[in-house]
Amino acid sequence: MSERWPPRRLAMLEAMGVPLRLPRMQAEVPQQAAAPPAAPGLGVRPVEAPVTAAAAPARAAPVAAEPATPRTAAPVRPAEPAVAPPRPAADARPVQSARPGPVAPPEATADGRRILGVESMDWPALREAVAGCRACGLCESRRQTVFGVGNERAEWMLVGEAPGEQEDRLGEPFVGKAGQLLDNMLRSIGLTRSEAEPARQVYIANVLKCRPPANRNPQPQEVLQCEPFLKRQVELVSPRLILAMGRFAVQSLLGSQEPIGRLRGRVHQYHGVPVIVTYHPAYLLRNPLDKARAWEDLCLAAAQRESGGGATSAP
Ligand code: URA
Repeated sequence: MSERWPPRRLAMLEAMGVPLRLPRMQAEVPQQAAAPPAAPGLGVRPVEAPVTAAAAPARAAPVAAEPATPRTAAPVRPAEPAVAPPRPAADARPVQSARPGPVAPPEATADGRRILGVESMDWPALREAVAGCRACGLCESRRQTVFGVGNERAEWMLVGEAPGEQEDRLGEPFVGKAGQLLDNMLRSIGLTRSEAEPARQVYIANVLKCRPPANRNPQPQEVLQCEPFLKRQVELVSPRLILAMGRFAVQSLLGSQEPIGRLRGRVHQYHGVPVIVTYHPAYLLRNPLDKARAWEDLCLAAAQRESGGGATSAP
């Protein structure tokens, strides 16, 4: 079957590590998302139309629930007005922020925990606040906080779960095996975390800024405590699209406990920013057959980004 795919698409799938010899049902999946003309600027062929959950092809195997264990999530948040400030003209955007200057130490509430004023912080203040955060118990076991990386005016923002061992050691998100896969996925659609213009260089952040001990799942309270940091990062980046990778990103951004398999394939919103849901790269390492679906998600994201909203199928 793979020999009938266009060479360009094969190369992209290969870069992502998508198995090209798939069982019959699996091999049919990417063909649903194939074909139309290359999206300008991204070097990707977007899906013809958004793949809705209802229209998703039947699977030989059930859509693997990404989480291994059930968990309580952050509560569904009420609808809020858009918070993303208007983007300034592209030439006014700094590609990288200035290094943190001297800033006031993070404020805390009476119980000494929650950091206040995050919603009005600039990049240096936010970095400083995250670095000094002691709002939850994760500060006891972390080596360092992991803030985020990439273009602070990126058009694409990617949100993962939490730092792992290597991220905790190096202070940068997605530097382990999952990060290598993520970089390949980005490359397959012409994006990078390395220095580039805002249309090509993504910004990557996690729901949690500290590593949970032994890489355990984030706890609801930790997600809640860290939420203002992620929200402020989204406001400051003001991306045109967010890729929510994995169920904790989904829980934090969308307030949804639905499995990824039921949320992907359509466009959601986070304070007015389109959100595409996809599998976490670490999950894809364990379930490589679902890379074909992740590829569909990237195509949908690229189509959404190119259309500037036309591909939206969210309610
Ligand atoms: N997994 C994540 O969600 N984030 C990282 O930074 C690394 C692994």
